[in-house]
Amino acid sequence: MTTFEPSPAVLRVAATSKRPAMGSAPENAVSLAMGEPDFDTPTAVIGAASAALEAGETHYADQNGLPSLRHALADKLSRDGLEYNQDQILVSHGATAGLASAILATVGPGDRVVIPEPCYSLYADLVELAGGTTVFVGLSPDMHWDLPALRDALVGAKLMVFSNPCNPTGIVHTREELLALGTMIEGTDTLVIADEAYDAIVYRPTVFTSALDVESLRERTIYAQTFSKTYAMTGWRVGYIAGPADVIAAASRVHRTFNGSVNTAVQLAAHTALETGHEVIDGMVASYRERRDLLLELLAGIPHLSPYPVDGTFYSFVRYDLDVPSEQVTAELRGQGLLVRAGSEYGPSGEGHFRLSFAADADSIARAATVLRSYFSSVPANEASLVRT
Ligand SMILES: Cc1ncc(COP(=O)(O)O)c(C=O)c1O
Repeated sequence: MTTFEPSPAVLRVAATSKRPAMGSAPENAVSLAMGEPDFDTPTAVIGAASAALEAGETHYADQNGLPSLRHALADKLSRDGLEYNQDQILVSHGATAGLASAILATVGPGDRVVIPEPCYSLYADLVELAGGTTVFVGLSPDMHWDLPALRDALVGAKLMVFSNPCNPTGIVHTREELLALGTMIEGTDTLVIADEAYDAIVYRPTVFTSALDVESLRERTIYAQTFSKTYAMTGWRVGYIAGPADVIAAASRVHRTFNGSVNTAVQLAAHTALETGHEVIDGMVASYRERRDLLLELLAGIPHLSPYPVDGTFYSFVRYDLDVPSEQVTAELRGQGLLVRAGSEYGPSGEGHFRLSFAADADSIARAATVLRSYFSSVPANEASLVRT
């Protein structure tokens, strides 16, 4: 009999990760747990993939991504004072592999990586995989960055990672926050990963500022993007990173070592997605907005709950004022047929919260609110006595 012990890297991730392995939802359950659009991929994109397959686009591709796609992405990202070329773009297996490549390419044992939290739970897992040290910095009570705390934490840091708009909080970090970050790390070697996966899903009057539009950040920024959310393409597995050529070359080495090249037909379809008219995306965002309003209206008045404002993304992060761990709340809600994500998955300050995705139909949102109302209205006396002040 052989005995097997996972590698130290796996053990490090297993010891700290709170990311659930997502399986299929139990029958009849309402799921507001998944982070994915409920729209189908635009038909032109599907057509482009099937045409590519019919045309024999079934071979390995350039390991950095199809030059035609990288060229189009470089054009899309270039702006006043910032010119990208193809060597600064890496097409990846979703943003997941783009982020993994960027973190494994830049972080070594003992390197400090600053992550404002609550935040997307993949980042800290990747830092563990790389052997780095995660330095979580709690957000301010309004879920914006705690700038003095960030300033202290960033001293000597190798990297800072954040998502903007933020999964799970739904907050859009402001231009002023980004400018303050740029000032804090000016003159240092600290790199920044700006994961802007939800940049297209922002609700007016909120205005989104990309890290690439902040002069003091752009030189040191590894920009991470995906086709998953904007174009409802989660299952296609295509994203990209962009940044300084030497950093992208290092990330490319990691990506081709793990993944080889990205599916050729999928890259051609992604290129078509880039050319998709803005009306298609605007239509999806208008629909998310209606559902955001519905969810927040239904949550208002449920005892113990305080949702944060949602400026972007399709998530509502909800605080509850009971002294019950969020994993227990999540398990109990699951027992009542509602799937949500425990706030503790997103970092220590996520405790006392849960995350709802409103990329779901109105009926599911209404059913979810009914379960939440019943659950939080019937808090047992012993738990109510532990209510936080
Ligand atoms: C902030 C953020 N970044 C990256 C990803 C991963 O996206 P992809 O499907 O491209 O791997 C997600 C998915 O939920 C996300 O929320």
